[in-house]
Amino acid sequence: MEYLDKAEFQEKMQEKTAAIEAILQETLPKGDSLQRTIFHAMDYSVMGGGKRIRPMLLGEAYRLFTEEEDEMVAVFMTALEMIHTYSLVHDDLPAMDNDDYRRGRETTHKVFGEDMGILAGDALLNYAYETAVQGVANAKHGERAVAALLVLAKKAGVYGMVGGQVVDVEMTGKPLRAEQVEFIYCLKTGALLEASLLIGAILGGADQAALARMEEIGRLVGLAFQIQDDILDVTGNTEELGKPAHSDEKNAKTTFVSLHGLEASAKAVKEYSDRALEILDSLPGQNPYLNTLIRMLTNRKK
Ligand code: IPE
Ligand code: IPE
Ligand code: MG
Ligand code: MG
Ligand code: MG
Repeated sequence: MEYLDKAEFQEKMQEKTAAIEAILQETLPKGDSLQRTIFHAMDYSVMGGGKRIRPMLLGEAYRLFTEEEDEMVAVFMTALEMIHTYSLVHDDLPAMDNDDYRRGRETTHKVFGEDMGILAGDALLNYAYETAVQGVANAKHGERAVAALLVLAKKAGVYGMVGGQVVDVEMTGKPLRAEQVEFIYCLKTGALLEASLLIGAILGGADQAALARMEEIGRLVGLAFQIQDDILDVTGNTEELGKPAHSDEKNAKTTFVSLHGLEASAKAVKEYSDRALEILDSLPGQNPYLNTLIRMLTNRKK
């Protein structure tokens, strides 16, 4: 399996991040009308940093299957990052994880108030679908675009991210079994990573067999990603993370780390990520940048 060296990878990553941020900036609503506070709160939430992993995975998954250019890729990248950002804005609310920092600055509800925090999340979720449906209506490959839209809706919803957050919140402060933690992680974090890879693959014209593999890679990367997030919650510091360390302890969350310890958690991250890479390697297309990105996600410090 081919990987990029660190310098080349980092240069490409910067370019790709900048391209994603330019599309986000262009798509976000702006204007001076009476509801402009919501435009500012949306902009503040979305444009305040963030690794842009999900849109990046979407774009790289697409490239695994085709050389063609398709405007739908940018449309779905934007919609997905807006949905992810809304999930963070709501996750940080006092009623949920009650965190004051995100992406290196104060959380949306801290700056704009709790009312606007709730509404900024609602607005981003809605605007994501507004953007996606408008794109789908003009799609060159209409059937693919509709299939991608359905994946986005499902993976963000009660069978995906929202479902995972429900169990996460409901189980806060309670002891959990390993299977329950895995269930929560697959949904709250895995689902949007599955959506990234699946949507990219669907838009790229992947067949059913390849789609099943992409979904499994997303599940494994999701597990590795969330366990690494839990590790960093214990071992990282707020400045480097850009969000509060020890948030899980504060909220008495049962996490993979609290259940299995740091050492076993680091091993699990490596195992899930290696399995994801193995499946990726079994697909016909090759994308060294994607290989490197998945490997890097599990060694990340933020
Ligand atoms: C944070 O996601 C929430 C989790 C699923 C762990 P990211 O770590 O991708 O957050 P940003 O987008 O880079 O801020
Ligand atoms: C959040 O999990 C997953 C989401 C769907 C937002 P966490 O609550 O651990 O995410 P962070 O640590 O606040 O980013
Ligand atoms: Mg949470
Ligand atoms: Mg949180
Ligand atoms: Mg966390």
